[in-house]
Amino acid sequence: MTDTPAPRKRLLIRTWGCQMNVYDSARMADVLAPLGYAPTEQVEEADMVILNTCHIREKATEKVFSDLGRLREAKQARGGEMVIAVAGCVAQAEGAEITARAPWVDLVLGPQSYHRLPEMVARAARAAGTVIETEFPTEDKFDHLPETTAPQGATAFLTIQEGCDKFCSFCVVPYTRGSEYSRPVAAIVAEAERLVALGAREITLLGQNVNAWHGEGPDGGAWTLGRLARRLAEIEGLLRIRYTTSHPRDMDDDLIAAHGDTPALMPFLHLPVQSGSDRVLRMMNRGHTAADYLRLVERLRAARPDLALSTDIIAGHPGETDADHAATLALIREVGFAQAFSFKYSARPGTPASTMAGQVEEAVKDARLAEVQALLRDQQTAFNRSRAGLVAEVLVTGPGRHPGQMAGRTPWLNPVHFEGPAELAGQVVPVRILAGHPNSLTGTLAAPHRAQPRERPAA
Ligand code: SAH
Ligand code: SF4
Ligand code: F3S
Repeated sequence: MTDTPAPRKRLLIRTWGCQMNVYDSARMADVLAPLGYAPTEQVEEADMVILNTCHIREKATEKVFSDLGRLREAKQARGGEMVIAVAGCVAQAEGAEITARAPWVDLVLGPQSYHRLPEMVARAARAAGTVIETEFPTEDKFDHLPETTAPQGATAFLTIQEGCDKFCSFCVVPYTRGSEYSRPVAAIVAEAERLVALGAREITLLGQNVNAWHGEGPDGGAWTLGRLARRLAEIEGLLRIRYTTSHPRDMDDDLIAAHGDTPALMPFLHLPVQSGSDRVLRMMNRGHTAADYLRLVERLRAARPDLALSTDIIAGHPGETDADHAATLALIREVGFAQAFSFKYSARPGTPASTMAGQVEEAVKDARLAEVQALLRDQQTAFNRSRAGLVAEVLVTGPGRHPGQMAGRTPWLNPVHFEGPAELAGQVVPVRILAGHPNSLTGTLAAPHRAQPRERPAA
């Protein structure tokens, strides 16, 4: 008889919320890999399940509790042999409620504690109750997380900033992610170089307030995000840089200039405005007016004329009147967004807006959101149609939906589908855009493709 290797343990991670959670989920997988955990999609075979959760709106939070109900059954079906962990912003905000409502959860850990996962798993194996870590530890999790080893593909995320000190009236992030923290330049450059070595051609720098980043440079002084983008653009093989999410208040002159002088910085910017009414913006504590935002857009477009803009809108913040809502529609019309996310205001416990006078009725919120979304949808379709006829540089991300088809993204972040060989994955190729659809583009390779060797043959 031959020895069979010990069965690998299986890890299932479900991720909700923003891209920072996507990044964190990958890092949790990195930290658990040395313990023998390999990824699975099947809950039945999972030895450990992590729900990486989002607290931003009520709906997002509810999903966690319904998922936990289903996981209880899955755990019972495995005779209790399943570690269930709740991570992310719901864990941070509602740790006590989770242990009370779902005592079958083994671990509850906030976003600043992921480096402690191995130790927590060991403690959970010994402990009877739930192991909870929702403090903001004094040590820096980034210093204690292992280096990324798993390829993320042609596009990768890199968290450079966490937390928020802005305290917008409606938002839970300052409470769930803590205060602003910027990673130092050296750590970011080293991680970017590793990602590129693993195949990344485009890196999206992440932060809840990414343009408030002011990490320490090798010279000991604080750098701006514009300077960081220029430094990262020097990395050989890194063709594209993006960053998200930005706050209008932190769009400094140097960052605007970088959009003009750094070709690797892609001509697409997600810049949430939330409302077009100065009254509402004031109540939201956003720290800028509608005119400030429009002026900013003008300056950005002067620096980079082909810049496409995206935004976030909240419909029905407390105190919002029909006139405020009309001002939001007017601002959207004036800017012309290529893409956008819009949400119905959701009262979040503990935030100032949740107890403000003038809460807007659900039906009114629904009607306003529908109007905002119809306008934004039209703008997105118009933008996509305006790409037809252009030859766009497309970063090929992988196979498309149909055989023989490849998928990629334009500089403006549109998904594109075109006929092409699989070996194009990871390359930037010219694609003639034939048509724009509501959510994507279709095109055809603009130049005959010659196979490019991935590595130079040894001389
Ligand atoms: N840091 C980013 C946004 C993070 S949250 C910024 O400053 O813009 C992502 C989006 O969720 C926000 O832009 C906002 O539009 C929306 N959002 C946040 N809290 C919300 C709430 N209570 N109700 C509805 N939408 C909300
Ligand atoms: Fe939330 Fe405002 Fe901070 Fe953005 S800037 S994360 S909306 S508090
Ligand atoms: Fe959600 Fe937390 Fe991100 S609340 S949007 S997962 S920062």
